[in-house]
Amino acid sequence: MAEKSTHGTGIIIKNLYKIFGRNPQAYVEAVKKGMTKAELNTEHGHVLGLKDINIDMPAGCIQVVMGLSGSGKSTLIRHINRLIDPTAGEVLVDNVDVVKMNEAELRQFRRHKTAMVFQKFALLPHRTVLENAVYGLEIQGVPRSKQLEEARRWIARVGLEGFEDSYPNQLSGGMQQRVGLARALTNDAPILLMDEAFSALDPLIRMDMQSVLLDLQKEIKKTIVFITHDLDEALRLGDRIAILRDGEIVQQGTGQDIVLNPADDYISSFVKEVNRGRVIMVDTIMTPGVRNGGAGLPSVATGTILEHAARIMTEEHVSEIQVHDGKGKPVGHIDMQSVISAMVTPITHEARQAAE
Ligand SMILES: Nc1ncnc2c1ncn2[C@@H]1O[C@H](COP(=O)(O)OP(=O)(O)O)[C@@H](O)[C@H]1O
Ligand SMILES: [Mg+2]
Repeated sequence: MAEKSTHGTGIIIKNLYKIFGRNPQAYVEAVKKGMTKAELNTEHGHVLGLKDINIDMPAGCIQVVMGLSGSGKSTLIRHINRLIDPTAGEVLVDNVDVVKMNEAELRQFRRHKTAMVFQKFALLPHRTVLENAVYGLEIQGVPRSKQLEEARRWIARVGLEGFEDSYPNQLSGGMQQRVGLARALTNDAPILLMDEAFSALDPLIRMDMQSVLLDLQKEIKKTIVFITHDLDEALRLGDRIAILRDGEIVQQGTGQDIVLNPADDYISSFVKEVNRGRVIMVDTIMTPGVRNGGAGLPSVATGTILEHAARIMTEEHVSEIQVHDGKGKPVGHIDMQSVISAMVTPITHEARQAAE
């Protein structure tokens, strides 16, 4: 196996295909040559799960995979720890192809490199919170004192101090998912796989959990693969987002890339309801350079979202603001009018035609 990277664990998915059915190999070439999902299904009774997936997930980032139900999200994430074998393609983790691992290597890989958080929590009902959290380390054969120390630390870190001896059915959904997260973190694996982990939670609890995860990630810097069907969640969490449709990636990039330049109508329909003020950053629309006489204006850092810039201008009773870089050097300026213009969703071509 390759040396362990000192820069964390990145994941590269290359030319990945998954066909479900009795004889998937027989159809790979046809699919590569363009046979559609519908054709494969109606004429050959096979299901095209994934088609030519290529994603480079840098170490320490949150990679979101988004798509509607049935688009292939679970199929994709399950390839990363090889709960599903691909029909073709590679899944490289630290340059090692998970697809080629033998059983012993795979077992080691799953135990030490990956942890999962499930939508339905999947806690052991007859174990306490503490005993649930130690589970992964128990399997790894870590000494008991170390198991408990780590588990207690992460239970506290996700906000469940005092609940160590509770049982899952004594906890609310949000708290149960905190246990799921504590259990995954106690494993101390560099890769965290989260398949719709927050989708079963009520909206406010869900936002709480997103905050917990973002806050933790500043410290743990794991490679997190987060599956969701919700664009707001994707934009809030994802350093990068890949959008799946019918087993194919239709677009990938930062949230801002996707909102500003949706690749097709499918993605436009997703992004049209988005609060653009929370996605677009000041540097995207600022006028570069130092504004003459701008010295007295308030200033925000690059990477600040428009909504926040607008709030500051409102509070300070000014209609213009400066933008500075990480070192505090002014790099541009922006006025309220351009902030508002950028926050308003552009009317689509079709909508304009319909209105005329
Ligand atoms: N074991 C299987 N056998 C046949 N088809 C499957 C199997 N697992 C998933 N599929 C099909 O693959 C597609 C993607 O499913 P899935 O990955 O579960 O989607 P998502 O998680 O985005 O809702 C769907 O069309 C689904 O019916
Ligand atoms: Mg799924």
